[in-house]
Amino acid sequence: MEIIIVKNYNEMSKKAASIMESVIREKEDCVLGLPTGSTPIGVYEELVRMHKEEGLSFEKVRTVNLDEYVGLEESNDQSYRYFMNNNLFDKVNIDKKNTNVPNGMKEDIHAECERYEEVINKMDGIDIQLLGIGNNGHIGFNEPDEELNVNTSLVVLKEDTIEANSRFFKNRSEVPKEAISMGIGTIMRAKRILLVANGKNKAKALHALISGKITTNNPASILQLHSNVTLVIDEEAASLF
Ligand code: PGA
Repeated sequence: MEIIIVKNYNEMSKKAASIMESVIREKEDCVLGLPTGSTPIGVYEELVRMHKEEGLSFEKVRTVNLDEYVGLEESNDQSYRYFMNNNLFDKVNIDKKNTNVPNGMKEDIHAECERYEEVINKMDGIDIQLLGIGNNGHIGFNEPDEELNVNTSLVVLKEDTIEANSRFFKNRSEVPKEAISMGIGTIMRAKRILLVANGKNKAKALHALISGKITTNNPASILQLHSNVTLVIDEEAASLF
């Protein structure tokens, strides 16, 4: 595991974006695995800047997002499809047909999970999976539990995740209780994993990544089994290292 500790959020965003950039420049039709949340916003801003100022092209780039809430329309400003359009897709020259986010409005969510897993499998692998990490160690919406899903699945969100995400909603009761998420296996099949994190509240969850132990109580700890993981984290997030 490569660990890059940087001073602050700005440096984290720039460093992670430059790694993503090198993947895109090397393979114009690469597959990017993408997260939502507060952490990657700076990475997306930097990629948009590179597109505008340095000719970074997304024309042939393909993307798959980690997860989506169940029950939110694409037009809902809290849906992850809306987030991705707003923070990246509408600001670069990507073909929206090449962007994939699970559809949380489908009547048959299990069929949608299977379809989504199949979309990823047909792509011949995710070249780089950008990840955030939850305070509780979740990756995607794979929450700490006795068992973890291998493939894309319907998940029930934990109270601490609902609490953490309620900051984006008018009130807590509006936060969806379910989501579709890539499974741990879907994430682990990515050729390369790039995890970004900043701030003290991530320090404990990150510590599990260097603990030498794997536990389903911290889903991110399984990344220790992947052979190509880079962490780009700020000093506060690394404070327990
Ligand atoms: P955050 O979420 O970037 O908003 O902290 C990360 C996550 O929950 O995976």
